[in-house]
Formats: sequence, C-alpha cells, structure tokens
Amino acid sequence: MMKTVVAKALAVVLLGFGLTAGAVMASVEDEIRSRIAPVGTVCVQGEDCGESAAPAQTASSGPRSGSEVYSSACAACHDTGAAGAPKKGDAGAWSPRIDKGLETLVTHAINGFNAMPAKGGCGNCSDEEIELAVEHLVEASQ
Ligand code: HEC
Repeated sequence: MMKTVVAKALAVVLLGFGLTAGAVMASVEDEIRSRIAPVGTVCVQGEDCGESAAPAQTASSGPRSGSEVYSSACAACHDTGAAGAPKKGDAGAWSPRIDKGLETLVTHAINGFNAMPAKGGCGNCSDEEIELAVEHLVEASQ
C-alpha cells in the first residue's frame, strides 16, 4: 500500500516537471548507474579494459617526490658510492660539485656525466622528477 502511495506521489511530482521529466529521469538513471558501478574492476591481461585500466604508475598524479625518486633510481649508487658515485651526505665530496651550481648538476643528472648514467638509468623519470631528486641529494649533502 505504501508503495502505491509513493508511486503516485512520485508520478505527481514528475508530472509537475512537465517536459523536463524525461531529462530528470535520465540524469537520475545516470546517477544511479554511477552509484551502483563496481568500486574497482579487475582487468585481465590481454583484455581491452578501457582507459580506466591504465597502469597506476602513469604520470597523471604529478611528479614523484625527490626522496621517492632518489630511493628507487639513485640510492643504489649514491648510498654506497658504487662506481665512484659521490655519497649522499658526504659534504666533502659534494661541496665542489655544489659549487658548479644546481643547474649544472641537474643537467648532468638528466643527460649523464662520466660514470653517472643519464637519469640514473630511470627511463620513466621525468626531467622534473630528476631535478627533485638532485635537490633532495644536494640538500642532504651540505
Ligand atoms: C650507476 C650508478 C649511479 C646511479 C644509479 C646514479 N648516479 Fe649519480 N653519479 C654516479 C657517479 C659515478 C657520479 C660521479 C660522476 C663523475 O663525477 O665523474 C655521479 C654524479 C652525480 C651528480 C653530480 C654531477 C656533477 O656534475 O658533479 C649528481 C647531481 C647525480 N649523480 C645525481 C643522480 C641522481 C639524481 C640519480 C638518480 C636519478 C643518480 N645520480 C643515479 C653514479 C650514479
């Protein structure tokens, strides 16, 4: 019984909207669809899962922080001194380099410098991320 009352009331309300009722229903339907859409979708490799299936690491969320980039792409050499890399935190090793200017250091980090590989070998690091990593490294080494 309540249902019919509600339905009648709804019908009256919708009639009140007149010509826009159809549009209202359509947008309500869209809203309901988006509300009942699954929170996450599983995409099996090889399936076409649409744009939402793009890997989480694509650059849309802005640059990674300097310390994040450093840990994943630079620490292997700059924490250990491997290949003759100036160690992070070693002010003596860094001060003559810092004297060259941050811009030069960033350019060398992006393009490579002697045994220092371009971008530290990080193929998916943007120039901006490398710059943030250099700043992180330099700040920790003065
Ligand atoms: C494979 C080892 C290796 C990795 C990985 C590496 N570096 Fe280096 N890096 C070196 C070496 C070796 C040098 C010293 C080069 C020289 O002075 O001849 C160096 C030097 C530098 C310098 C000083 C350049 C100059 O002009 O004095 C900066 C800045 C630098 N690295 C930043 C980074 C950053 C940022 C990363 C990560 C994105 C990174 N490096 C990853 C080995 C590495």
